[in-house]
Amino acid sequence: MFTVKTLNNISPIGLDALTDNYAVSADAAAPDAILVRSAKMHDYAFNPELLCIARAGAGVNNIPIERCAEEGIVVFNTPGANAESVKEMAICALLLASRDIIGGIEWVRSIADKGDEIAAMVEKGKSAFVGPELKGKSLGVIGLGAIGARLAAAAEALGRKVYGYDPYLSVDGSRHRSSCIIHATDLGTIYAKCDYISIHVPYLPSTKHTINAEAIAQMKPGVRILNLARGELVDDDALLAGIDSCKVAAYVTDFPNGKLVGVPHVVCIPHLSASTPESEDNCAVMAARAIMDYLENGNITNSVNVPAAKLDRNSPYRLCVLHKNVPDMLAGITGILGEEGVNIDNMLSAGKKNNPVAYTIIDMDSTVEGLADKVAALDGIIRARII
Ligand code: MLT
Repeated sequence: MFTVKTLNNISPIGLDALTDNYAVSADAAAPDAILVRSAKMHDYAFNPELLCIARAGAGVNNIPIERCAEEGIVVFNTPGANAESVKEMAICALLLASRDIIGGIEWVRSIADKGDEIAAMVEKGKSAFVGPELKGKSLGVIGLGAIGARLAAAAEALGRKVYGYDPYLSVDGSRHRSSCIIHATDLGTIYAKCDYISIHVPYLPSTKHTINAEAIAQMKPGVRILNLARGELVDDDALLAGIDSCKVAAYVTDFPNGKLVGVPHVVCIPHLSASTPESEDNCAVMAARAIMDYLENGNITNSVNVPAAKLDRNSPYRLCVLHKNVPDMLAGITGILGEEGVNIDNMLSAGKKNNPVAYTIIDMDSTVEGLADKVAALDGIIRARII
């Protein structure tokens, strides 16, 4: 029986995806896995038994993924599971960036007591809230992953000329990428050509303030910027200076803060893009499946801190080893198996350039007492277990 601790409310459909082999609790003291949505985990003390954390969502900036890797904890996310939901919000954001729909609705509310005069007041006052059509305007999508690619395809169907930029195009992204999208090879092209720019990349140290003063300076006058990905991707001071000078006509963000709320031409949405029942269910199911496949089979799909590794199981014993991505690790591990007279049926070792952690799965026809401990005692081994 495995124990899964939940740190947030998780969709019951996701929890139901866990088999009878799993006990789920919000206050488990020594869980094998944690299921989390937005709870901040940077100061979290991990129990030694903890093998993995699954985030029901795409962004993982609430989880200390490097510390997790050092402690042998695999962190999963659920890329694409909320993509439809975020894409729909992005289409809404395009419209909110074009016309002052929210200002208009607020104004109509403010004249609610005017009775029979309302209809005439509306016709007279509406010009304060007008804005351009989407058709014929260019949209730049930064990040053509699951969300960006879907948005690009939908925007193209709305008559937009779509430029996409993504140096690391994902498989899921390519599947949804329309052939009519103009593939920009640098951000400068997006900035120079686009009337609307929507950013869909993860927040990492390298993507912090992607939209900064230098980027805004290269944009077209009157550009409209959308950010449903993470607040930190945009330098708020530079953005507000752009709004002030009218270089930026509108900014729609899912990440309000004290600098942005109440500023004219800034539309603040309360981080709603992925909040649909469908997306919460999809994310939770995907996260639950990732946990089960890792705990029961040692397989890793969609991890943000350990390379992917998936091997069909045809042997009675499987040794799973998280280790440093340095020379001679495999020789050390297989050397121990040789000394113990254990035969290797199948093996997969996954390492990735620039990732300090690698992962090896070894299927064996037999095992011996204490084998995992012997492997774990080798220099450079982070965690070893047999399942
Ligand atoms: C995501 O990262 O998946 C979305 O921003 C929604 C969320 O944070 O839960």
